[in-house]
Amino acid sequence: MAEEENALLGDIRAFNVYTGNLAWTFKTIPEPNQPGYETWSPANPRERIGGANSWAGMAIDRKRGIVYVPTGSAAYDFFGGNRKGDNLYANCLLALDASSGKLLWHYQLVHHDIWDRDPSAPPNLVTVINKGVKTDAVAQITKQGYVFVFDRVIGKPLFEILETKTRQDAIKGEYPSPTQPVPSKPTPFTRQSFTEKDFNPFVADRDSMVKLLRAARHGSAYIPLGREMTIFFPGTDGGAQWGGAATDEEGTLYVPAKQIPVYTTLVDVEKRTTNAPVTSTALFISRCAPCHGADGKGNHDGSYPSLANIDKKYSQAQVLQLLEKGRGMMRSFSHVSLEEKTAIVNYVLNKTGASTQVNNTEPQEENPDKSPYQHTGYNRWYDRNGFPVSSPPWGTLTAIDLNSGEQKWQVPLGEYESLTKKGIPPTGTDNYGGPLVTSSGLIFIAASRDAKFRAFDKVNGKIL
Ligand code: HEC
Repeated sequence: MAEEENALLGDIRAFNVYTGNLAWTFKTIPEPNQPGYETWSPANPRERIGGANSWAGMAIDRKRGIVYVPTGSAAYDFFGGNRKGDNLYANCLLALDASSGKLLWHYQLVHHDIWDRDPSAPPNLVTVINKGVKTDAVAQITKQGYVFVFDRVIGKPLFEILETKTRQDAIKGEYPSPTQPVPSKPTPFTRQSFTEKDFNPFVADRDSMVKLLRAARHGSAYIPLGREMTIFFPGTDGGAQWGGAATDEEGTLYVPAKQIPVYTTLVDVEKRTTNAPVTSTALFISRCAPCHGADGKGNHDGSYPSLANIDKKYSQAQVLQLLEKGRGMMRSFSHVSLEEKTAIVNYVLNKTGASTQVNNTEPQEENPDKSPYQHTGYNRWYDRNGFPVSSPPWGTLTAIDLNSGEQKWQVPLGEYESLTKKGIPPTGTDNYGGPLVTSSGLIFIAASRDAKFRAFDKVNGKIL
């Protein structure tokens, strides 16, 4: 789902498997008569705002007929001035009656999300002994590195969740929530902040890195984005990602995660008034930079590819076609005028200079819900040798005892052979992809960027 002003509503729907008929709809962004409506301002969020969709996957308790639905953030990902308030039911774990769609309970994991910190994986259903009582639980892992554990039936947290004060120094027009929920247990499966002492011991250009960090907003979770470089740790996409976690019958959760800083910045959206020409750079910045970066270099793991030297790879017609159709995780730009697309393509292919003016064929109406800011990309912070600037581990597999909330073990997941050869212990790598735990006590996981498939001993995390 798009995460801008054109985002669609993220309603949850149930269909009858025999007939295909719609059985019910749960509106994650409420109607005026629905509970939760009061957590949005100005009024009528459904007419103005989209998102709050369940993209990460759901879980179902078949015996009880309850479906557990994690919901995404509301648009925009990094600005919420047009949606003051907590924004229910975005960023929630919802328990819905599977036959009626009635809300049984909910817990909001991030209030007024302006960090794209929505739950990134399906919840895990697990049975634990909580303070001596056998309890059917649901556990939700997060990008922030927290695990939220609830009684599956009544929604009561099994470990206390503390509303914790967070930084409030936001950009003009933004109103961050004064607090965010932080579970007292389990211990987070990632570190929670990135400070000067957290640079890795072999980082290249340390002095200039330190300088950059000193000028940046950093050092805690949930820092409102500013015009300065703002550091996310763990990075924007976690922490945990869509591969999710595995659980076993003893109530242990096995969760892969990454611990790599990501930075971004808010910049003003160039105002486009009727007939005023815009530059091709401005078009690139507004349409392409959120993913490919303002410098067009993409991000370091290649999930958003670099566009440098793209002229050696594609013709003008081919790039135009790509924008028309989209590809993989890149959306189509068919809604953009041909003149604009051509200007962007010529810019990307270095056919024209950065300051080429283009007639503004799409004058923007004054839309009060449009963000005045945009972000400059999901930039993983790597040094010039291609390694994350943070101290390892960069990728981990963690076993957490959900009965007690205690961590059992944490081991690196993945390695860079070039570093291991130099005698550096395995650092772990960025990773996406879930684990599988067997009844005989093995954990299988791929996910790491060294493209290896591993088996671990679930008792102690030893690589087998
Ligand atoms: C939502 C993120 C996103 C946005 C916005 C975006 N791209 Fe992409 N782009 C991608 C991804 C992801 C790929 C890789 C797609 C694949 O191959 O699966 C890609 C691929 C490309 C490629 C091909 C790269 C190659 O080496 O094959 C070009 C060219 C490109 N994008 C240009 C653009 C231009 C120009 C814009 C702005 C009009 C743009 N992109 C906006 C995410 C994005």
